[in-house]
Amino acid sequence: MSAQIESVLQEGRLFPPPKGFVSKAAIAGMDQYQALCAEAEKDHAGFWARLAREHLVWHKPFSRALDDSNAPFFKWFDDGELNVSWNCLDRHLGTPVENKTAIVFEADDGKVSKVTYRELHERVCRFANGLRALGFQKGERAIVYMPMSVEGVVAMQACARLGIIHSVVFGGFSAKSIHERIIDAGATLVITADEQVRGGKHIPLKPAIDEAFAMGGCDSVRKVVVYRRTGGDVAMQPGRDMAWDEVVAGQSAQCEPAWVGAEHPLFILYTSGSTGKPKGVQHASAGYLLMAALTMKWTFDIKPEDIFWCTADIGWVTGHTYITYGPLACGATQVVFEGVPTFPHAGRFWEMIDRHKVSIFYTAPTAIRSLVKAGESSPDHHPRKYDLSSLRLLGSVGEPINPEAWMWYYTNVGRERCPIVDTWWQTETGGHMITPLPGVHALKPGSCTMPLPGVAAAIVDETGTDVEKGKGGFLVIKKPWPSMIRTIWGDPERFRKSYYPDDFKGRYYLAGDGASRDLDGYFWIMGRIDDVLNVSGHRLGTMEIESALVSNPLVAEAAVVGRPDDMTGEAVVAFVVLKQARPSAEEAKRIANDLRNWVGKEIGAIAKPKDIRFGENLPKTRSGKIMRRLLRSVAKGEEITQDVSTLENPAILDQLKQAN
Ligand code: WTA
Repeated sequence: MSAQIESVLQEGRLFPPPKGFVSKAAIAGMDQYQALCAEAEKDHAGFWARLAREHLVWHKPFSRALDDSNAPFFKWFDDGELNVSWNCLDRHLGTPVENKTAIVFEADDGKVSKVTYRELHERVCRFANGLRALGFQKGERAIVYMPMSVEGVVAMQACARLGIIHSVVFGGFSAKSIHERIIDAGATLVITADEQVRGGKHIPLKPAIDEAFAMGGCDSVRKVVVYRRTGGDVAMQPGRDMAWDEVVAGQSAQCEPAWVGAEHPLFILYTSGSTGKPKGVQHASAGYLLMAALTMKWTFDIKPEDIFWCTADIGWVTGHTYITYGPLACGATQVVFEGVPTFPHAGRFWEMIDRHKVSIFYTAPTAIRSLVKAGESSPDHHPRKYDLSSLRLLGSVGEPINPEAWMWYYTNVGRERCPIVDTWWQTETGGHMITPLPGVHALKPGSCTMPLPGVAAAIVDETGTDVEKGKGGFLVIKKPWPSMIRTIWGDPERFRKSYYPDDFKGRYYLAGDGASRDLDGYFWIMGRIDDVLNVSGHRLGTMEIESALVSNPLVAEAAVVGRPDDMTGEAVVAFVVLKQARPSAEEAKRIANDLRNWVGKEIGAIAKPKDIRFGENLPKTRSGKIMRRLLRSVAKGEEITQDVSTLENPAILDQLKQAN
């Protein structure tokens, strides 16, 4: 970590906010930012209570901001009542927003359709009424396995309207992953589509649900609702499966929402942790929505005339907060895109920014890096070839952005006019935590700059003591915040151990990232300190991939590590011991390929190891611990400088160095 810190601390470039930006921004200038920080410092709970009153509409006002009597199971605004969908839709009816476009949907094939706030409200109400007629009610859990679509947003909003807790599963996850989530969440409802369309290809969704059912144990599910995206041929099981159109047929366009307590769970979103089993991160209603709406205003400086585009999938937290909830709570117009950045050509994003006059664009470093490469090899589709003058603000999320990619984004896409907000946050934090504010902070490429007002971010050593500026340590949040994870679904003890470990006497939220601050107080995120990898901005647990590998009948043992990768940030490298004798070179290639596909089926294509190495054993200490640090060096192709004298069998390192 120290070499990384050295290199980022040498980053001397500084980009102050453009002049025109400061005066008009939601937080206009450093003085206002500091005043908000001071207000929060003085009365943390009172600060958030003020914002919750100003930015949300309450059905029943709350009287108490923070309940910390059962820390770390914090509650916010908990005697208040509201409905999240009402706050995203009904609150705009009868205002000028009612007839404004809520969603500009662009399909994979380029077909564009628009939905106003009124129409979106109607569609959500009809679908919610349909679900209610089927007997679904507050507190039940729904798995949503949908393509990027208006219907995907409608499904989530309809759940929120009824107080049904949704758990969206990214369309790239396998049947096995769906199966695990249906069972863990005890889902009674599944909402899916026949197929999704990406890059000109039809990719089946419903068949994965059927496959999950075939694995057994999904008896809690009463209905599977199937939206017809393509009309592809899918099996429908009578009694259980129902077409979306049938659910909404004859339903009213008005639907009284279920008023829920502020702490009522809004959703569960599964994410990888340091054990084999994904964690069901549980979010509450009011605190989560507050942060979603507030950061749309603070970080993205959203204005009535903006066209906002977040390119994330609704299957990830970024799509939840900055597609389904944040933009709608603010009455913004947003673009929702079904396809992929490189189809039908590498200029698709830039063409769409021009076509829809996007003013705020939010994407991931991986997408930027792949488009840098694509733009170089296909100059006709370089961002310079497009009219991007509508842009005023750019954002980045999901992984550290390397200064080169930052500069390319700033120069070629933002044309040196648009600030870049490099937003650090997590599934668990619900919304942005550490990020530049476009009217406040001077930017340094690669730094997420400073915490939002009210976010008590700090860097500490293993005893929980603040480290000096310039030194690396654990990123922690010292005080609770409204949109924080409430618990891990069904496993409160795992929640406490993972995020409020005894090492820090249970006082601080441990983010799981390493970070440092420079002499100006800017935060630099170094990446995960646990056994979690970040591949193309997707979180993957090494243990999860290891369990998938060892469940293959050929595999005796497996260890998975990350290796830095120019394109995907990190790449998955697996070291595998087969039950059979070490394979010949040709056989090894074939088995490696089979194992890759196996992992694809067990978890999803994003988890497939880039590199698989075979050995007769893994490097272990005499006490039997796998020496992962050593494996990381082998994966990188580094000279082994570590002491290997404690290794049981040093000779196997030579085997593991051979790539297949
Ligand atoms: C990483 C995505 C550096 C980090 C919103 C974190 C980042 C994990 C940034 C969460 C950023 C996210 N700079 N690293 N701007 N944003 N990360 O839960 O390691 O999918 O812990 O949430 O992504 O990933 P998750």
